[in-house]
Amino acid sequence: MQRQGAGGAEDVTILAIESSCDETAAAVVRNGREVLSNIIASQIDLHTIYGGVVPEIASRKHIEKIDQVIAEALRAADKTLRDMDAVAVTYGPGLVGALLVGVSAAKAISFASGIPLIGVHHIEGHISANYIENKELEPPFVCLVVSGGHSHLVIVRDYGEYEILGRTRDDAAGEAFDKVARAIGLGYPGGPKIDKVSREGDPEAIKFPRAKVADAVYDFSFSGLKSAVLNYLNSCEMKGIPVCQADVAASFQKAVVDVLVEHSMMAVENSGLRKFAIAGGVASNSALRKAFEGVCAQRGITFYHPSPVMCTDNAAMIGAAAYYEYRNGVRHDYDLNAVPNLKLGEEYPKEGHFLQ
Ligand code: KG4
Ligand code: ZN
Repeated sequence: MQRQGAGGAEDVTILAIESSCDETAAAVVRNGREVLSNIIASQIDLHTIYGGVVPEIASRKHIEKIDQVIAEALRAADKTLRDMDAVAVTYGPGLVGALLVGVSAAKAISFASGIPLIGVHHIEGHISANYIENKELEPPFVCLVVSGGHSHLVIVRDYGEYEILGRTRDDAAGEAFDKVARAIGLGYPGGPKIDKVSREGDPEAIKFPRAKVADAVYDFSFSGLKSAVLNYLNSCEMKGIPVCQADVAASFQKAVVDVLVEHSMMAVENSGLRKFAIAGGVASNSALRKAFEGVCAQRGITFYHPSPVMCTDNAAMIGAAAYYEYRNGVRHDYDLNAVPNLKLGEEYPKEGHFLQ
């Protein structure tokens, strides 16, 4: 990776690519905040029959779709590669085979067209989704990132500068939603389904635990909650008590929301900042949004969130993050590789990043 002089004041248009999990996505974004196109080819239907994402199938499907999705993104933006100032791509974290498809496509485009290559951290992309629909949002702010693979509480000190306050010790919030959904017979993907059936249920019906991590007040732990739901289901079955799916879903969801709200508000108050944002697939959860809207209004904290389509995986958020990396002078070389376990705030290349 190289750093060049900061970009000037002229417009910067970026072609962004995202393929870290089960969405093949490409977008054209101007100046980090204006989305000219945002194309997403979801593979959810393919993975549903297996009850979760099958990495091999995901990689293969990305290969089939990537050229078409990129062409469609350029066409929908009424642009060609010649109009692009850079090509950006998610290079981690995520599924290695899936990431490699996007990284290879971006490197090929950069090499063939001569435009610079920018590797983007997937979580930085999720956080940056907030810039697209909240034009006035600038760092510093506190952000809760809750997705299928991650649960992080972060202070965004500046563009590209993150301080991680807490993270999950076991399951990510979205993973807990997916596992509980499967256990109560809702299927994959669980988050949106639990969100929907919870509206018919009583969130106070069953008292599930609100886990705390003794030595790290901002950390999360969701596997205990998941086990408590499984134990509840087992004991109902053994006693022959009928299970109310909507009550279990609503009570589980309430337990997750309570913990996320409590930890986030503690972080905001202790940071002294008055701006709070949420990001990632779980950030589209309606009960979570409602809870944050209420508590932030009460405390005089400005609450930001992306619209649901910008919460789940997309390439527009990668284009938003890439713009600030571009302005910071970040350019990657053709040795850029997929880094499945990339940590937020790490620079590439670093020892241990290369795939053997
Ligand atoms: O950010 P994302 O699209 O992919 C990752 O980077 O992981 O997040 C996907 C996760 C899945 O676990 C999905 O169940 C969850 O986000 N999710 C939701 C909702 N919509 C998606 N969880 C709760 N409520 C929702 N409405
Ligand atoms: Zn994601």
